[in-house]
Amino acid sequence: MNRKYLIAGNWKMNKTPDEAAALIEEIKPLVKDATCSVVVGVPFVDLPAALTATKGTAIGVAAQNCYWEKSGAFTGEVSADMLRAMGVQYVILGHSERRTYFGDTDHTVQKRVRGALDAGLTVILCVGETLEQREEGITTEVVAMQTKIALGGVSAEEMSRVVIAYEPVWAIGTGRTATAQQANEVCAHIRDVLSGLYGAETADQALIQYGGSMNAGNAAELLAQPDVDGGLIGGASLKAADFATIVAAAK
Ligand code: PGA
Repeated sequence: MNRKYLIAGNWKMNKTPDEAAALIEEIKPLVKDATCSVVVGVPFVDLPAALTATKGTAIGVAAQNCYWEKSGAFTGEVSADMLRAMGVQYVILGHSERRTYFGDTDHTVQKRVRGALDAGLTVILCVGETLEQREEGITTEVVAMQTKIALGGVSAEEMSRVVIAYEPVWAIGTGRTATAQQANEVCAHIRDVLSGLYGAETADQALIQYGGSMNAGNAAELLAQPDVDGGLIGGASLKAADFATIVAAAK
């Protein structure tokens, strides 16, 4: 087991291009000695500013969604090829806010994953149960189903460009974090699912993050879990010092 942690900020719909550049300038010196991979996931319009600001650093840039067709009559959409052409390396897909507010389903997520991998991007694939599903005792089933459908058609080789973010919906933006044990339990279960799909070696190499109210105070305990290989950070990624503390905890 030799997995390099990935800490990714999910800025959601926050920051203008100028504000994005300023926040990255603040983050840069604080994470320059990071031993993990560091990514900032910014709104589409901030991508050029983020790519410029991160140039010459080890910080990667992620978009927060993409469409699966390469081009055509899809008003308002952005393709994976377009992202790749501008130098973006990562894309967050299947985030619960996309599923809840914008109609993403397991099958549209599958198409996005396919399009993103074909374009050469690395995917941060979000899965996670709602509170109701957890209370019904179907967390592992839900997460397994989301994972299997999203990865339909993805090869073992391509899994080196897929990161899975386990984000319990009830923990996102609520301040209610999963316990380290809950986070590890589901991340380990996802690894089992990957093992069933691709074999133990691929599963062992896969990066599985936790996300959902991870912050400067609780990151170290979550990241110390054996099956938690990093974090997808929303609110706390908008504060340079907090984000840097989480990055420093990922070793
Ligand atoms: P949060 O968001 O850290 O603000 O809970 C996480 C996410 O939505 O990726």
